[in-house]
Amino acid sequence: MKKHIKHIGVLTSGGDAPGMNAAIRAVVRSALDRKLKVTGVERGYHGLLTADFHPMDSRSVGNILSRGGTILHTVRCPEFRERVHRNHAYKNIRGAGLDALVAIGGNGTSAAAYTIHRELGLPVAVVPASIDNDIYGTDETVGFDTAVNTAVEAIDKIRDTASSHERIFVAEVMGRENGFIAQEVGLCCGAEAVLVPEVPFDLKRICQALELGHRRGKVSSIIVMAEGAGDSRKVAAEITRRMKLEVRVSVLGYIQRGGSPTARSRFLAARLGNLAVRSLLEGHVAVLAAIQKSAFVSAPLLPAVRKTKRIDHQAYQLTYQLAL
Ligand code: F6P
Repeated sequence: MKKHIKHIGVLTSGGDAPGMNAAIRAVVRSALDRKLKVTGVERGYHGLLTADFHPMDSRSVGNILSRGGTILHTVRCPEFRERVHRNHAYKNIRGAGLDALVAIGGNGTSAAAYTIHRELGLPVAVVPASIDNDIYGTDETVGFDTAVNTAVEAIDKIRDTASSHERIFVAEVMGRENGFIAQEVGLCCGAEAVLVPEVPFDLKRICQALELGHRRGKVSSIIVMAEGAGDSRKVAAEITRRMKLEVRVSVLGYIQRGGSPTARSRFLAARLGNLAVRSLLEGHVAVLAAIQKSAFVSAPLLPAVRKTKRIDHQAYQLTYQLAL
């Protein structure tokens, strides 16, 4: 018989993403609205291992909507991959009387949540939150829009100095093994080239295109490179060798993970956080709160764990078409 859900736990795990706080707020207040008890779990799955739990009320999530980071803190927790450690977590979950868990995070977070469901039978819901936007089953993750905007703002500034000095820049963005950030940032910055791990690139052809651009009167060139596409310093050195021009590298790094979430990231956090709680109450037991073609849907969690999301090749090509 299906267990009535009266008490949920909420945690954030993996790399933080702007909008995680907004998602915590949405989960906590949606649950309180349905008269559920809410327990906050500190430091993601590590907090389950150590029973680092505290009760959450409406005020505990006051004034956090606009703040970057996560008030519940987050760690990467390799111990959770071992069953012997997970058994401690299961004991603590039972001891605290949790009937379900909402996990806010990315791919690793989704995989761990699914494992908990499979081994313990606990209903779990994932709110996809990651700057990388690489979770299968949702068109967008909480935090992606903010990271893209942060990178675009930074690269616009790089364009100013690149134009003054008539230079070529390689701007490296995050994204782990995927090019979602790079692809969108490249298009929005009018980059001359975008390098992503999903598409093999030929530096000889890229240099020829840069050369043509310069002959047509371009005074600067920006190559947006995903961190997973290789070593940005080696790419810069190779362009220097071929074009006999100095190339500068700017690694944007962790600024992409911080800052106040954009309205879009807050909106997604509110809708997906609320959907996660509703999905659990409707009887979903392993669910991804997702946005698909502008609709908010309770998607099955297993495909999100097993399958790989693909980049939009048309959008990728468009950057090159528009960089004439
Ligand atoms: O998943 C988010 C992300 O920022 C990736 O883009 C990046 O590769 C990674 O996390 C960095 O991880 P860490 O926080 O462990 O340095």
